[in-house]
Amino acid sequence: MKGAQNRPDAVLLVDIGGGNGHDIAAFHVAYPYAPGKLVLQDLQPVLSNIQSLDKNIICQPHDFFQPQPIKCARAYYFRYILHDWPEEYYIRILRQTANSMKHGYSKVLIFEWILPIQNVPLQAALLDINSMALTMGWRGRRNSGRRCLQERN
Ligand SMILES: C[S@@+](CC[C@H](N)C(=O)[O-])C[C@H]1O[C@@H](n2cnc3c(N)ncnc32)[C@H](O)[C@@H]1O
Repeated sequence: MKGAQNRPDAVLLVDIGGGNGHDIAAFHVAYPYAPGKLVLQDLQPVLSNIQSLDKNIICQPHDFFQPQPIKCARAYYFRYILHDWPEEYYIRILRQTANSMKHGYSKVLIFEWILPIQNVPLQAALLDINSMALTMGWRGRRNSGRRCLQERN
């Protein structure tokens, strides 16, 4: 939040694929006076199912394979999103975000498990194998995602 713009139209945080908004709502409870707008994005059917959400949180239907409509936010947040997708797909997701970022200002926040090469706890190892088997997900293959963000910034 340090360094975030305090203009009425500035966006502080975009929670991409944020589901029913539990995480961004918790952020708002923890930091009620944080400057800037809070935006929850997910597919329309998911947003339509939300029973209640703090009125300070803006819901915006968005497919993360399409261009990110919020430009120059302070932070774009992915929690448990990228691991579900094979490399080619999560790079497309990250590129759509990178294209909307403001150089030197916007940040990408990725919340995922990063597993060590050896001595992985059993539960984490099983999740990793499942994610690779079912979705060709990215757990443990972090370099290409990082490269994609570095290319842009
Ligand atoms: C594993 S859940 C994570 C939800 C939330 N970020 C969390 O940590 O609880 C993945 C989310 O991605 C959303 N999602 C899947 N495909 C999407 C797409 N193409 N565009 C936007 N959201 C999508 C799903 O609807 C779901 O809410």
